Amino acid sequence: MNSKIFTYFLFLQLLLLVCNSKPEVSAIIVFGDSTADSGNNNYIPTVAKSNFQPYGRDFEGGKPTGRFCNGRLFTDFISEALEIKWSIPAYLDSDYGIEDFASGVSFASSASGYDNATSDVLSVIPLWQQLEYFKEYKEKLTISKGSRLASRILNQALYIMSLGINDFIENYFVSPRRSSQYTVEEYQNFLIVIAKKFILDIYRLGARKVAITGYLPIGCLPVERTQNLVFGHACKEDYNKVARDFNLKLQDLIDKLNEEVKDIKLVMLNLYDPVQEAIEKPYIYGEFLFLSLSLLSHSHSMPLGGLRF
Ligand SMILES: *[C@@H]1O[C@H](CO)[C@@H](O)[C@H](O)[C@H]1NC(C)=O
Repeated sequence: MNSKIFTYFLFLQLLLLVCNSKPEVSAIIVFGDSTADSGNNNYIPTVAKSNFQPYGRDFEGGKPTGRFCNGRLFTDFISEALEIKWSIPAYLDSDYGIEDFASGVSFASSASGYDNATSDVLSVIPLWQQLEYFKEYKEKLTISKGSRLASRILNQALYIMSLGINDFIENYFVSPRRSSQYTVEEYQNFLIVIAKKFILDIYRLGARKVAITGYLPIGCLPVERTQNLVFGHACKEDYNKVARDFNLKLQDLIDKLNEEVKDIKLVMLNLYDPVQEAIEKPYIYGEFLFLSLSLLSHSHSMPLGGLRF
């Protein structure tokens, strides 16, 4: 899909976050899955990798970086739009050091989720481990910048949590481990509790502005439509409902924490409606998106269409 267009929607929502508080954003600190992994999975033993062609064909030098994407991720576009840097490096990439990470770093790991059982599926970096890396990062930043400046950087950073859909599409919907244990709603609540704990953990370490992605219409993902043979490759409406219900719960959590936690500013990046509209009316987004979406609706003919991380 055309990540620039979705970045535009996300950016409008982020402007609300950034403009209502102090304008200065010192750094972008990212947690999540393949929607935000800029190459961490290159350095761990997993099959959830994308460091080969055709990934990266529109990246600088046509380089497959480990982003599950033709070019840059939405987090990179946001970083550029805030005039911080052109792209956000992966924490495990030894080509970069604390000086680079001081203005932006991604701890995200493709195929990860809120639930430990999700990251277990393809042995990727679980969210709790991403938090451990963040603590290590904080220590390195403190050594390099001194504790006052390091705290200021961490307080003024924009934190992005971009994850969640793998908990359903890679785990709950396909494996009995969680689906025999929880109903859909119980599992959603279980994920929300983990999200809450994580937000409070990074808050204690200095985070104040946090943007969290909601679910997009997961029933319309190429991997789901490809499998939906009976209904002529239509979107799976029951999956989309799971996404909408999750978003309501996430928005509730965000509203509560905004009220209860001193100085925290949380926003939800709600992609559901823009993506749904782009799927239903691609022509209003111009010819390029129309072409990409027509490819998506025949996803089996598209090289990346079957991948879902
Ligand atoms: C996930 O695993 C970590 C490390 O073993 C553990 O501390 C944490 O409690 C687990 N999370 C849940 C929700 O079980």
